[in-house]
Amino acid sequence: METNRIPFLDLVTPHQELKDELAAVFAYALDTAGFIGGPIVEDFERSFAKFCDTQHCVGVGSGTDALRFALIAAGVKPGDVVVTVPNTFIATTEAITQAGATPDFVDVDESTYSMDPARLCKYLQGDCCVDGTTGRLFNRRLGRPVTAVVPVHLYGQAADMDPILDLAERFGLRVIEDACQAHGAEYFSKRQNRWLKAGSMGRAAAFSFYPGKNLGACGEAGAVTTNDGDIARKIRMLRDHGQARKYYHDMEGYNGRLDSIQAGILHVKLRHLAAWNERRRECASRYQGFLGVAEGEIKLPVEPSWSKAVFHLYVVQVKNREKLQKRLGEVGIGTGIHYPIPLHLQKAYKDLGYREGDFPGAEKAASQILSLPMFPGLTYAQQDRIAQHVLDFVDEEANSGISAVSRIVSLTSQGG
Ligand SMILES: Cc1ncc(COP(=O)(O)O)c(C=O)c1O
Repeated sequence: METNRIPFLDLVTPHQELKDELAAVFAYALDTAGFIGGPIVEDFERSFAKFCDTQHCVGVGSGTDALRFALIAAGVKPGDVVVTVPNTFIATTEAITQAGATPDFVDVDESTYSMDPARLCKYLQGDCCVDGTTGRLFNRRLGRPVTAVVPVHLYGQAADMDPILDLAERFGLRVIEDACQAHGAEYFSKRQNRWLKAGSMGRAAAFSFYPGKNLGACGEAGAVTTNDGDIARKIRMLRDHGQARKYYHDMEGYNGRLDSIQAGILHVKLRHLAAWNERRRECASRYQGFLGVAEGEIKLPVEPSWSKAVFHLYVVQVKNREKLQKRLGEVGIGTGIHYPIPLHLQKAYKDLGYREGDFPGAEKAASQILSLPMFPGLTYAQQDRIAQHVLDFVDEEANSGISAVSRIVSLTSQGG
């Protein structure tokens, strides 16, 4: 076993580098006892809204809170159907269920791993129909109204939003972006002829600040971004027991606030986010340069011309994924699988009635994807070592294939 381990994600170093500033946030909270709400939360919300090019940001307790609150505030009602993709973290669908709706899926584009607009179109035209009297869109199989769509900007890359937004307008659907992995990702909108930030394109968007995210708290945190003042106002109430004024509850809500220590920590880190994302992009381009020579054997991330990804994860596909993961583990290189089982095949969703083969794009990806180490502090030397091990593996696999074939050929030629 090689001794110098390369973690899948180094969360220690960036916190050590910012230790004094982060500790000052904690010290200030102790001195003022301002733990919940207040100017520190509001300052962060203003800065993050600016970062995302949106008018509003509402800090909440987690990305799951953000998704749930965004769906409810945008008007998703119990009994509705909300369409998303099967290859995402379960929080996407948990939030839909917790809003009282039923999640339904359309498959992903196999090259980008995000919602395939053509399949969304097929779903809306083929699996749904418009009720003649109400004008509402119904899913035929479920017999329920389809009211929203949640594209997921997976691995730090925006989904192809223009056609999704066009379809949503045509079919009267609300679009809530799951931007939990995409802080700072950009999308070139032909509709608007400009680059747009993830989190600024839908009716509202959800961000997670789980510690391992591109912008991570030192605990749980999340935020909703939106340009809709009414949605922002509703979410401020939803996160705080349905009150806009203390002890005056206009509705039932949740305990889903962003606390001031996490907000202060996030504000310190937000100043570094653009540079950290740039560094991730550099790492991705170096991986691409190294591993591109084996493109036939290993599928690398695809960044279409309309995307500037922030590489929350660097995900490759190889045939013998488990074997490569084991091999890298043996030499001290950490990897991950995001995610091994698509949601439609999870036990939690067996009642939705889906079977293997229903979403081939997501299923194929799930069986071959492997996330290589990706974080801003990944050094050139570490990356060179990772790439070398991956290339050696791919080479060995290819050669063992060739020798197997040549063995068969030689046996056949010998009449064996
Ligand atoms: C795509 C996606 N959606 C939602 C979430 C939920 O965020 P949180 O863990 O902050 O609740 C995550 C976090 O892992 C995620 O990756």
